[in-house]
Amino acid sequence: MKTFLLGSTKRQVLEMIPECRIHKINLGDQVIALVRSQENFHAFQADCPHRGTSLVEGSLSSEHEVICPSHQYRFNLLTGEVKVGSCGDLEIYPTELTQEGLKVFISNDQ
Ligand code: FES
Repeated sequence: MKTFLLGSTKRQVLEMIPECRIHKINLGDQVIALVRSQENFHAFQADCPHRGTSLVEGSLSSEHEVICPSHQYRFNLLTGEVKVGSCGDLEIYPTELTQEGLKVFISNDQ
């Protein structure tokens, strides 16, 4: 498991990452997507499991789903489960907001 730290304080992270938008985040040689909802953060693979379209260009639903812009497949941000469409689930990454910044945990086989 690799741990990445975004920002250097909790306050900086909250200022740096506005709510209700999909952010593209570079972690080393990996790109992930990140959504903030109040003080909760949802990190997930940036490319759609269906055909690889960038989910950073997608949209968010009021049901905690990210919607792919290509074929409108929907994925639950909390579990990664595909809700509309037929493909694999979305890979999600645990996060933890601390006084030192936002930790993002990515398994080594990513
Ligand atoms: S590429 Fe995302 S739904 Fe088809």
